[in-house]
Amino acid sequence: MVDVGRHPKIELLTMCEVIETKGYVGNFEVTLRKHPRYITDECTFCGDCLQRCIVFTEDEFNVGRALRKAIYTPFLQSVPRQYVIDDKACIHFSEEGCQKCVEDCKKRAIDFSQTVEEETIHLGAIIAATGIKPFDPTGLYGYGDSRFPDVVTSMELERMMSPEGPTKGKIIRPSTGEAPRSVAFIQCVGSRSEKDGQLSYCSKLCCPNTIKNTFLLKEHFPELETYVFHNGIRTSGNRQERMFREARKEGVVFVNSFPKITEGHVLTFFNPLIDQQWLMRKEFDLIVLAVGIVPTAKEVSETLGVPLGKRGFIKEDNQLSPSSTPTNGIYFAGAVGSPSDIKQCIEQAGNAAMQVSKHLQRDTAELSPIIAKVDPEKCTGCGKCSKQCLFGAIRVEDKVAVITEAACRGCGNCLNSCEFEAVSISNYSEEQLKAQLRAALRDPEDKIIVFACNWCSYAGADFAGTSRLQYCPKTRIIKTMCSCRVSPDLIRYAFALGAPKVIVSGCHPGDCHYLDNNMFTKKRVMKLKEELGSRGINPERLMLEWVSASEGQRFVKAVRKAEQLEVDEAEIELSKMIFSQPKKKKSSKKKHD
Ligand code: FES
Repeated sequence: MVDVGRHPKIELLTMCEVIETKGYVGNFEVTLRKHPRYITDECTFCGDCLQRCIVFTEDEFNVGRALRKAIYTPFLQSVPRQYVIDDKACIHFSEEGCQKCVEDCKKRAIDFSQTVEEETIHLGAIIAATGIKPFDPTGLYGYGDSRFPDVVTSMELERMMSPEGPTKGKIIRPSTGEAPRSVAFIQCVGSRSEKDGQLSYCSKLCCPNTIKNTFLLKEHFPELETYVFHNGIRTSGNRQERMFREARKEGVVFVNSFPKITEGHVLTFFNPLIDQQWLMRKEFDLIVLAVGIVPTAKEVSETLGVPLGKRGFIKEDNQLSPSSTPTNGIYFAGAVGSPSDIKQCIEQAGNAAMQVSKHLQRDTAELSPIIAKVDPEKCTGCGKCSKQCLFGAIRVEDKVAVITEAACRGCGNCLNSCEFEAVSISNYSEEQLKAQLRAALRDPEDKIIVFACNWCSYAGADFAGTSRLQYCPKTRIIKTMCSCRVSPDLIRYAFALGAPKVIVSGCHPGDCHYLDNNMFTKKRVMKLKEELGSRGINPERLMLEWVSASEGQRFVKAVRKAEQLEVDEAEIELSKMIFSQPKKKKSSKKKHD
């Protein structure tokens, strides 16, 4: 951090909040709210003001276990090395006239006239790295309003062990101030639980952190009796596993069991290795709750306009682009994207910096020629396409949808939300795909039409070919960028041309290269199958198949399944007749007017 503060090419903006982001890669416009520090650059950090300040308030950095002054530094190594005045605590703002720190500052560096300011800056790319919050275990394990004094969280223990912490590095039982003779750690507090208000995921850091703490405690108190109650220790990689084994050699007892805290410092638990019913009771001087981690990505998502995943972390674009958000030019590093330890955070930061350098090295950005286009004559400005776009590439301006070309990924999902046929995808327009269908179904007999997404299914079909796997020669493959581009109209058109069977294939759930757009595909295909059934057409004639790039066999299996389906002439004629009826087109409001 100190290096960042000193780097000539890094401008550090502290006390700032991002309130809005507009624009696209190479051209972001970010509005910042700058909060006043009430200290000018004249400050030499002499500490006279700190001595003089008479107001004490809770110290957030020490998790409320210590007090700090109203004029303070957030923590010892904070950058820049300057004081800040907490205007909620400082009595200058509540009791007119307190100027004690001003009187003692020889450099005249205290300025109470500073106010909140807004500033807009222009950026080429953005990296979000906002970290995490520890899970609040209030109400769990006797930790809460009427909490047991000798039950602390892993964060509180961490601060207690720090020489700059509330006890200056002395590890004590809070109730007596004496050194503990026995310590119990309870793992997975708030993590890996489906209960309301808890976290369903593994927080990843807690097991290695507890193991590290058992070593530190043993250094302080070699005779300390140490127990770790866990739900399966999770240590990954060579180093963590080695530490786990060494902790056991050092005498740390690991018990696979969920204990209960009773009487403040007594744990009741069962030992599942011996007998599920065998209850044990043991007193400990100190109990540490290894709390999980909570994402801080909600505000980041709102201000940067990038989507959140189900668990509240920033959504990664896809597995092949780590550290990338779905918005071109916006990246992330560290635990804002998923639970990560320090090593992973550093790796991700390096990766994100590399990605950004790609943009900064050039004056121009390369864009894909496959992007959405809007016909302003047909567009009513209803905004449905904008809501459908997971990449924030469509906004409505003056009642017309406008595509930000640098943000558009060309998946084609927006096209399916437009009732007025105002959206098209360049190089994959409805007309171009229909022309391919007409060519493929010139002689429709026994043909199998396969719509395959570019990234997985098409590559899977290719793999089947290069692996010399045999499949029906009457298969005709039509490539789209994503399976979500396949509109129900295209499928109806294929049936209208006499296609006996149609397969829509895409990446497996979770693997779509356009976030979860293949889930829209699933919804549309299921709806269309219902429509087929209700019109007396066998819904099995329309198939949905997930095929990955390495699944040539699976592609062949899907085609064989379609090949084996018996479809008689009468049924083909029926679907031809039903879907050849001209569709009632919705006219745009503009035309209507
Ligand atoms: Fe394959 Fe979306 S890219 S289904």
